Amino acid sequence: MFDLAGKTALVTGAGQSVGAGIAQALAVQGASVLVNDVIEERAQSIVDEINADSGTAMPLVFDVTDRAAVIDAFQISGHIDIVVNNAGNAGTENMNPTPFSDMDPNDWEAPIRVNLYGVLHTTHAALPNMIESGWGRIITISSGAANSGVNIGVAPYASAKAAGQAFTRTIAAENARTGVTCNAIALGLMENTAGGDHTASMARTIPVGRLGTPHDVGTMCVYLASEEASWVTGQTFHVNGGTLMT
Ligand SMILES: NC(=O)c1ccc[n+]([C@@H]2O[C@H](COP(=O)([O-])OP(=O)(O)OC[C@H]3O[C@@H](n4cnc5c(N)ncnc54)[C@H](O)[C@@H]3O)[C@@H](O)[C@H]2O)c1
Repeated sequence: MFDLAGKTALVTGAGQSVGAGIAQALAVQGASVLVNDVIEERAQSIVDEINADSGTAMPLVFDVTDRAAVIDAFQISGHIDIVVNNAGNAGTENMNPTPFSDMDPNDWEAPIRVNLYGVLHTTHAALPNMIESGWGRIITISSGAANSGVNIGVAPYASAKAAGQAFTRTIAAENARTGVTCNAIALGLMENTAGGDHTASMARTIPVGRLGTPHDVGTMCVYLASEEASWVTGQTFHVNGGTLMT
């Protein structure tokens, strides 16, 4: 089950944290993984780890917010069966959480460009070949901030993540008869957002009692990328230790 041998997967923002865990999990199931990041050294280090672990990976360095760069990357990479839109947060900027009333419009652009335009760019570049081949998987990493009001100063980010979920449903509906599925995964609090003393106190707020790991997300991606998930499309899966139960 969940054999991805013969499939090529692109994971954006896979040079560290959640994206790295997704790339590693897909590689373990046999996929050839294109490890994207805007920072070359990060992509290369995860490629080295996967290849050292008997997987198959190559770096594919580009900025998901740069449409021309995305198109070029798809042209040089050959056929891609699985795209995981993971690059997010504030992209190459710092998150800088701020109440919306105190934000400057310039602050809105970075999270919307990476979490929405980045997803549009890669999906648009990937779909034609997927449709032509009759098989494809688009998976977009979203956030629980899109589904529940959170008072943590991330209004544009939450908006872009919600847009990614709506985009997922429309792409799924448009392509439901083509063999291409499109799903989203809304994450709760992850280990890499905590640090030091905060980890234990954040973990106590989560029903299962711990923060999420990249592996938790990678295994969900393996399922959604698999042949076994061919009847699953247009959904947002909440991977959050039970924080938001819908
Ligand atoms: N960490 C969390 O608690 C959390 C919670 C909910 C959702 N998420 C989502 O999970 C995903 C991964 O988050 P993370 O915390 O692991 O991220 P991270 O910031 O630790 O790593 C993101 C990687 O993406 C790369 N990147 C940034 N902008 C890019 C761009 N424009 N093009 C290509 N690569 C780019 C960075 O260089 C970095 O290596 C994001 O979509 C994020 O919004 C994270």
